[in-house]
Amino acid sequence: MIRRCHDVSSVREALSTAPCPLALVPTMGALHEGHLALLRAAREKVGPGGTVAISIFVNPIQFDRPEDLLNYPKTLENDLAACEAEGVDLAFIPNADELYLPDRSILVTESLLTKHLCGATRPGHFDGVLTVVLKLFNILQPDCAIFGKKDFQQLALINRMVRDLDVPVEIIGHPTIREPDGLALSSRNRKLTPEHRADAPRIQRALSAARDLVQTGEQSPAVYLDAAKSHLLSDALADFSLDYLELVDSVSLQPIAKLTAPATLATACFYHPVRLIDHTEIVPIVS
Ligand code: PAJ
Repeated sequence: MIRRCHDVSSVREALSTAPCPLALVPTMGALHEGHLALLRAAREKVGPGGTVAISIFVNPIQFDRPEDLLNYPKTLENDLAACEAEGVDLAFIPNADELYLPDRSILVTESLLTKHLCGATRPGHFDGVLTVVLKLFNILQPDCAIFGKKDFQQLALINRMVRDLDVPVEIIGHPTIREPDGLALSSRNRKLTPEHRADAPRIQRALSAARDLVQTGEQSPAVYLDAAKSHLLSDALADFSLDYLELVDSVSLQPIAKLTAPATLATACFYHPVRLIDHTEIVPIVS
């Protein structure tokens, strides 16, 4: 039976007697197969005798668009039933008033990896993510935490925070789970119109087409970007728009001049008002 904890003291009390090791899967709910894959990986990591915890919290301070926060899907009872079926031991479902005091004055900010990609187009978003993730680590003190590689920049930032702030937790990245047609699973997909949903796999196709250029020995970022851009924009729907498309170094997340080290081609696209992200790794051929 899954244990539900709604405040900090009850989750701390529940965990004080929970068997080690503890794996945490932070989420904002509206769970889909991508989240469930993380829960399964968490169980695999800690074994049948360990503890798997999920947090379900729509973190208000990471939303840069108020309408996005307002429209974020909320399916708590279904989420808890899915967690129960996955054998999750504990769900932490805090409320914002307890986590964020009115006079709070500390925020985790990052000054390099956030300069590009989503960090550039969603001001303040990653401050909100890093702050809540650090708070969750401090409250639950997990041995490890599982995050999806789908949110590539988020995962890179969490790794950087744990490294730079000496947070005693092992971060595990899990591969992206996709629909059969290639669209990365996302809680936001359910907000797409049928027409937008049918068109959305073009995002993954565009990134793959650019990635396939590696086989030709191509090293110029401009060629990768042009290839992906023309796939994204040719015959695009009227309410489709590109938020960004960038080729960056996979670790520093800085734009690259030439493909000499593993790079990541990442994009964010709007099917108004829904914003979708995806990326692909571009690894140069070693000659
Ligand atoms: P959320 O969007 O709910 O995602 C929770 C976790 O599920 C993240 O680690 C995300 O990368 C992972 N995930 C989402 N879709 C996935 C997919 N298709 N395949 C694999 N993993 C996937 O990310 C957040 O919440 C928040 O920013 C959070 C980290 C919880 C902080 O509030």
